[in-house]
Amino acid sequence: MGPVLVTGGSRGLGRAIVAALAAEPGARVAFTFSTNEAAAREVEAATGARAFPFELRDRTRADDLVAEVEAALGPLDGLVNNAGLRRESLLALTSDEDWDAVVDANLGGLFRCSRAVLRGLMVRRRGSIVNVSSLSALHGVAGQGAYAAAKAGILGLTRSLAREAGRRGVRVNAVVPGFVATDLTAGLPAAAVAHLRAGECLARGVQPEDVAQAVLFLLSDRAAGITGQSLVVDAGASA
Ligand SMILES: NC(=O)c1ccc[n+]([C@@H]2O[C@H](COP(=O)([O-])OP(=O)(O)OC[C@H]3O[C@@H](n4cnc5c(N)ncnc54)[C@H](OP(=O)(O)O)[C@@H]3O)[C@@H](O)[C@H]2O)c1
Repeated sequence: MGPVLVTGGSRGLGRAIVAALAAEPGARVAFTFSTNEAAAREVEAATGARAFPFELRDRTRADDLVAEVEAALGPLDGLVNNAGLRRESLLALTSDEDWDAVVDANLGGLFRCSRAVLRGLMVRRRGSIVNVSSLSALHGVAGQGAYAAAKAGILGLTRSLAREAGRRGVRVNAVVPGFVATDLTAGLPAAAVAHLRAGECLARGVQPEDVAQAVLFLLSDRAAGITGQSLVVDAGASA
């Protein structure tokens, strides 16, 4: 596999994805962080991957980010749109600002990164994009209206883009993680965690490495015949 860019690689699922990619022979991996530079430098030291600053809501940064990454590592073969944020609020109490922040970061940021990487992939007629959605896109969770709308939007964008990019040999898929213990879910009350995990078939639940392996598969040529799909990694919660 050629160079791959992972957004939000400084913590959580993104960090596991970076580590799994970096362990592949001949790996060239770049990842982004937004505010947590210390964590990003730790991931660089542990994996040999290269860190780049990036804010999902920045309308002007994605093209420069891709240019910087490609200058450092060579033309990209893969993009993992992993960076995201969660902000809970009941819809009736959600302000326009909160709605815009959650949708624009989770969905708009993914759109801008995809657009910036896609041009090169389509010219080179190869490559793979993997988008990180969420089980919240498929199953209602009270208090996650904006987050769920953005994560469901990612699934629609994935299917649509698969049709556009497939003509140029570029694949676009999504992974749909269930509950994973990371900083993103650390603030949830124990009762909410128990509720989210209640349907899991596997007592082990989902670890960040499980999501990383699904992403690696979809990026790799082992998934050469798969595009426009969503791979659910939820320990069977939605079975
Ligand atoms: N954990 C779960 O149970 C779960 C389930 C389903 C889906 N997901 C999805 O999986 C992805 C990763 O989640 P996680 O649990 O690993 O979250 P996390 O531990 O909170 O890590 C989030 C990552 O995204 C970056 N990020 C956050 N806000 C950003 C912004 N405004 N601009 C740019 N980068 C930003 C963070 O960078 P800094 O370190 O610099 O802050 C960090 O690298 C997200 O898309 C999330 O929605 C998670």
